[in-house]
Amino acid sequence: MTVVLNQITKSFGAAKVLHELDLEVHEGEFLVLLGASGSGKSTALRMIAGLESVTGGSISIDGRDVTNELPKNRNVAMVFQSYALYPHKTVGENIGYPLKIARLGKSEIEDQVRDVADQVQLTDYLDRYPRQLSGGQRQRVALARAMVRRPAVFLMDEPLSNLDAKLRGHMRAELKHMQQQLGITTIYVTHDQVEAMTLAHRVALLEMGKLQQLASPKSIYDDPETLFVAQFIGSPPMNVAKGSLDGGVFALGDDRIGTGKSLSSPDAVLGLRAEDCRVVEAGAGKIRAKLYANELIGDHTLVTAETASGMFSIKAEKEFDAPMNAAIGIDFDPEKLYLFDGSSGARMR
Ligand SMILES: Nc1ncnc2c1ncn2[C@@H]1O[C@H](COP(=O)(O)OP(=O)(O)OP(=O)(O)O)[C@@H](O)[C@H]1O
Ligand SMILES: [Mg+2]
Repeated sequence: MTVVLNQITKSFGAAKVLHELDLEVHEGEFLVLLGASGSGKSTALRMIAGLESVTGGSISIDGRDVTNELPKNRNVAMVFQSYALYPHKTVGENIGYPLKIARLGKSEIEDQVRDVADQVQLTDYLDRYPRQLSGGQRQRVALARAMVRRPAVFLMDEPLSNLDAKLRGHMRAELKHMQQQLGITTIYVTHDQVEAMTLAHRVALLEMGKLQQLASPKSIYDDPETLFVAQFIGSPPMNVAKGSLDGGVFALGDDRIGTGKSLSSPDAVLGLRAEDCRVVEAGAGKIRAKLYANELIGDHTLVTAETASGMFSIKAEKEFDAPMNAAIGIDFDPEKLYLFDGSSGARMR
């Protein structure tokens, strides 16, 4: 099923928290709504679920306008961060509860519960109580309870954020596998860029209630449209330096960097990803710098270097070593650099 948001706005009193949001989620798509805390992700999701009224605009699901529909008539199932299982009901009873509410017969409920439990590998746990389960198993019960209703659309609000890092990684893979197997259109909210990059077919990045970019993980990483997107996605964040552009030459302190583009601006920002930079000898390379710190991360060494316009992170080989405060050069392929307008943050091409 498709989900379409058309010029959705939301205000709480005088505070506008969502601005003219346009979003089209495709049939079977896993769309991730990504943004910092307070950017409006949960509000947008709750509006799709019908748990929050819209201030302006419209929402349609499968081509039907549901803007003023009650939640129960929208054919969506929501999974929350705190999965809120009933502690005195068994796993089987928890999963079957929505069907009991819908007044299905006992044997039909049992059949469907077994079916869904099988899909999330909970068959052996149906008689246990939530307290007897691990965090990941509980999360699967919450998912199963959402799935048993056979919703047209899954809405998930940070469903993995209560789990420890290792389990989160495992559940991420499980979720991705399950979503692809079931092919249910899913809108997934998170502030975790790794979750967004790994799970999504497309990522919608929100900043302060405004959609910054909607694109595949690869193109949002390789081809950010704004400085905000460039710095939000990627770890460490993209290196940026302020400077001026004159006929395609970027002035960073005393260094002059040919960008290969015929652009001019007194107020520009140069961006470079850590993995696109190399540490070279002092005097060589395109940017002069001083070594600030080395951190051995495992498969690489993360070098922090001080330039005339702030710190740069560089991913170097794990064998890299040099004394603190040593003069170094930073080199890179000019094709790898990004340019942004200093005041609007828009990409300059
Ligand atoms: N019921 C409400 N009344 C007033 N303001 C609200 C209400 N619900 C949310 N807000 C405000 O709307 C903005 C967006 O909140 P929202 O919960 O959607 O953010 P979020 O992106 O989900 O953040 P988080 O990552 O912290 O969950 C915030 O500034 C929040 O304070
Ligand atoms: Mg939220």
